[in-house]
Amino acid sequence: GITIKLNQKTSKVNHSKFSKSLLDWYDINARNLPWRIPPELTKEGITNDPYKIWISEIMLQQTGVKTVQSYFLNFIKRWPNVIELNKAKEDDVLKAWSGLGYYRRARNLKNCAKTICEKYNGIFPSCTEELTKLPGIGNYTAAAIVSIAYNKLAFPIDGNIQRIVSRLFEIRDEIKNDKSNILENLKEIFSQKRPGDFAQAMMDLGSIICKPANPTCNSCPVLKYCLAHKNNTYKSIPFKTRKVKKVAKKGYLYIGITDCKKIILIKRPNTGLLGGTICPPTSEWKVNKFPIPKPPYEGDWKVLDNRLFHSFTHFELELKIMISKIKHFPQDVYLEPLNSFTLNSLPTVMKKGVEMGIASFND
Ligand code: ADE
Repeated sequence: GITIKLNQKTSKVNHSKFSKSLLDWYDINARNLPWRIPPELTKEGITNDPYKIWISEIMLQQTGVKTVQSYFLNFIKRWPNVIELNKAKEDDVLKAWSGLGYYRRARNLKNCAKTICEKYNGIFPSCTEELTKLPGIGNYTAAAIVSIAYNKLAFPIDGNIQRIVSRLFEIRDEIKNDKSNILENLKEIFSQKRPGDFAQAMMDLGSIICKPANPTCNSCPVLKYCLAHKNNTYKSIPFKTRKVKKVAKKGYLYIGITDCKKIILIKRPNTGLLGGTICPPTSEWKVNKFPIPKPPYEGDWKVLDNRLFHSFTHFELELKIMISKIKHFPQDVYLEPLNSFTLNSLPTVMKKGVEMGIASFND
């Protein structure tokens, strides 16, 4: 065994025994996920395509496994490798991303595909130092690609792994960006032989058993190593600070409909949360008060009674919806039919707004 110092306490964790208990559990309970090579195949030395691991990990950064699965399958069906993605139009990639949020990820994906094709001959580097030089690839994603796709030793630390390690070693720090303490402890239990399966086993353990609330400790394969269980402190680990109230931003959404029943869309500037996406025009979003409405095209604009609320990570957005028939508009707009295909290619907040607008238009 190895001795690990933690918060003045000393615990003995047998390195290989821990990973054996975890991996034995994973061999039977691994989730069946579309980007995953199951353990019976990784044991035969079959590794996953770095392209697929990259796409899935970028999608999984801020979106749950349940939602990501169908997006992932559609994405790799349409752009099965980095060369195809490099040829794709940025607008098409952004549309395929609709509903996942954080659209900067999709633009980074295109930039990264370009670099991989032009500088790396279409092959993803297999070390974290090289990977983190690429657009949109941080420490986490680099380590996930190195361990899951190349089965080389690297330590991806997502929220699940942070929570499990905190409980195992009774680390009472709040979840934060500095993961050095988690990393130090994780290194003591990580599997040298199956780094990719180890990382994925930890993710599965976090989602099936060591859940944020009400973990099912009775079925945990590594219960005997868990200090938080032993000392009955798991409920307060990881430590959570109270959420601060989010800023409220307010603005107008302008829904212009042409004579041939098409909606007028524009490409938003590349900055900001919905940067680069194609949406109906909006006013600026002002903190705490509505700006003066200035519809972009001449028309008989009406304001709807219903307002649209949408929660982003750092602020709450409230939009009043204005709608009008439009006769004259500039050349450089996008005109799209009002059907489900168009709606589904809009960011979620805009989809909600257009649906509200159309409902009132049909009244
Ligand atoms: N969450 C983040 N990455 C994941 C992965 N590869 N498998 C399951 N859950 C994840």
